[in-house]
Amino acid sequence: MYLSWAVIAAGLAWAPTVWGFNHATTVNYTYQELWKLETTFWDNFLYPANVQQMLAINSTLFTPDVQGRVDITRVFNGSELNTEYLFGLFSDPDHLSLVGVPVAYSITQFSANGNIASATTVVTFNATSFGNLLLPVTIDTWIMWDAEGRIEQYDATFRWFGFLLDTLVEALATSINGTTSQATAALTQLLATTICATHDQYCTGDNQQYTNASTCYDFLTQDIPLGKDYELGRNTLLCREVHEHMVQYDPALHCPHIGPTGGDYCVNDQTYAQKVLQKYFRKSWIAGGSSDEDIWLAD
Ligand SMILES: *[C@@H]1O[C@H](CO)[C@@H](O)[C@H](O)[C@H]1NC(C)=O
Ligand SMILES: *[C@@H]1O[C@H](CO)[C@@H](O)[C@H](O)[C@H]1NC(C)=O
Ligand SMILES: *[C@@H]1O[C@H](CO)[C@@H](O)[C@H](O)[C@H]1NC(C)=O
Ligand SMILES: *[C@@H]1O[C@H](CO)[C@@H](O)[C@H](O)[C@H]1NC(C)=O
Ligand SMILES: *[C@@H]1O[C@H](CO)[C@@H](O)[C@H](O)[C@H]1NC(C)=O
Ligand SMILES: *[C@@H]1O[C@H](CO)[C@@H](O)[C@H](O)[C@H]1NC(C)=O
Repeated sequence: MYLSWAVIAAGLAWAPTVWGFNHATTVNYTYQELWKLETTFWDNFLYPANVQQMLAINSTLFTPDVQGRVDITRVFNGSELNTEYLFGLFSDPDHLSLVGVPVAYSITQFSANGNIASATTVVTFNATSFGNLLLPVTIDTWIMWDAEGRIEQYDATFRWFGFLLDTLVEALATSINGTTSQATAALTQLLATTICATHDQYCTGDNQQYTNASTCYDFLTQDIPLGKDYELGRNTLLCREVHEHMVQYDPALHCPHIGPTGGDYCVNDQTYAQKVLQKYFRKSWIAGGSSDEDIWLAD
């Protein structure tokens, strides 16, 4: 009896390291602790707290090798990039941007277990480039924390983003007293002009991407599309608008993203099916369950 119990115990201890590696929970937080970790993230996401995170370069809210995915863009590896894209991108109310700065949030759905929380957060953005329009943005997230309370993986979805983009264009149409297509043209012109100015200021020497301002403008307005709601990580103007905000922080890294090549970030490197089936995460999101058939796990 004693022996067989020992064998079972040994078997239980052995199993996770062999075929449960990817879903071995490294820490179990209480529900209240996970709620606190979740709200700590969103508190720091708001402006101006996000400015402090950005200044840290590698936000301590992330593990150094954090993995992140945002449905409308693509995957982001490591704390430095994730600090730039989650905090830096939304931290300057005076710079042209689509949604502006986040000023408030409300968590409307939350469930948590082990070291994972799934939440829906409605974030109010102050769209400072669109007449300080207060824009509610619904962000669905899955977040996984390590034993030190740092985010080691996240997966974010911008719900109803196509509707949001159309709403911004409509707001612009109203402000210029024009049609939707005139507003789209105005937005294209505005974004291209801003990106080319940023290029001229920061992308010099080895980092230069365009011969001059007119080749830049022509490329951005004629050679590539503005982009659809799911194309912020593809070869589009909207993708370059996202990356334009990052150029000032690290021109060598980000100048190629706003250039003609798109530098691996604004490129059409995936089909729809490849995006959906991408094996990316190191750890499964299936809390405590079997991850053997989780097709999103990296090999
Ligand atoms: C966390 O809880 C799960 C389910 O109860 C358990 O299998 C696992 O061993 C726990 N992990 C730790 C680190 O305590
Ligand atoms: C941020 O992290 C990266 C990668 O780990 C490292 O190369 C870089 O030096 C760090 N920067 C700062 C300012 O800590
Ligand atoms: C990000 O990480 C994934 C998985 O480790 C890897 O396949 C991909 O090449 C990385 N992307 C970049 C741009 O480093
Ligand atoms: C939105 O931003 C503008 C310009 O920075 C500011 O004057 C206004 O108070 C902000 N509104 C809110 C609700 O934060
Ligand atoms: C808006 O445009 C319409 C049609 O072009 C014009 O009739 C109207 O006077 C304009 N309104 C304002 C406030 O400029
Ligand atoms: C910009 O570069 C293009 C291509 O080299 C050239 O044809 C054009 O004359 C240049 N424009 C200006 C304003 O320098």
